[in-house]
Amino acid sequence: MKKLIIANWKMNPISLKEAESLFNSFKKEIKNIKDIEIVICPPFIYLSDLKLKNLKLGAQNCFWKNQGAYTGEISPLMLKDLGVEYVIIGHSERRNYLGETDEMINKKLLAALESGLKVILCIGETLEQKKGGIQKKVVQKQLNLDLKEIKNLKFKIKNLVVAYEPVWAIGTGNYCQPEEALEMINFIKLKTKSLKLKTKVLYGGSVDAKNVAGYVKYPEIDGALVGGASLNPTEFKKIINKIINEVSKSLKT
Ligand code: PGA
Repeated sequence: MKKLIIANWKMNPISLKEAESLFNSFKKEIKNIKDIEIVICPPFIYLSDLKLKNLKLGAQNCFWKNQGAYTGEISPLMLKDLGVEYVIIGHSERRNYLGETDEMINKKLLAALESGLKVILCIGETLEQKKGGIQKKVVQKQLNLDLKEIKNLKFKIKNLVVAYEPVWAIGTGNYCQPEEALEMINFIKLKTKSLKLKTKVLYGGSVDAKNVAGYVKYPEIDGALVGGASLNPTEFKKIINKIINEVSKSLKT
């Protein structure tokens, strides 16, 4: 399976001009990459202006209805129409700041998959939950609720990706040790397998060029979700190169 790298720009940058220049730097830095899949997730309003050959586009959220009186929302079909391939659902920043519940996340996930979008579902425990030793319980509950009724979709379930993102590691520089991430990712894979899903599972949380190889060297870790470091084209290129290195090492062994 190809490693998958998601660049989550979050609510950055603040002008289209800057977004285009960031995108153009990516274009220069990342050429002829075949062995890994790279997805850029800019804010909604830049999606229609940014189109690149080697890179795919993702959105950071979507609503659960395709059309109608839902002020301020963006629908899965609107994203499809723009050529967007992926959508992030259930990011912890949306859970925390926007009050997104697992029920809402489940509705969004089903609607997005139904429309043909590929979904990156984010799950992970808070620091308090980790300290309490209940991180597996937490992700299991999130999976149960967020993936409810997914079996009924039949054909689209292969489009699901899960990102294990411990909340305490996001934007803190305090990344999860690769062995710990591996244990959680294996646990998540076991759970999704029991739902008859064969999903890629990524790691996310303070990924940078120094720590990325530690994750992707494991065949079980299918890639990374990169936030802050994806806003710096030079750093992002280093991350990509580290991943390509690990991929070619694994092909040789
Ligand atoms: P970070 O963000 O890489 O800046 O920690 C990751 C994320 O929010 O998905």
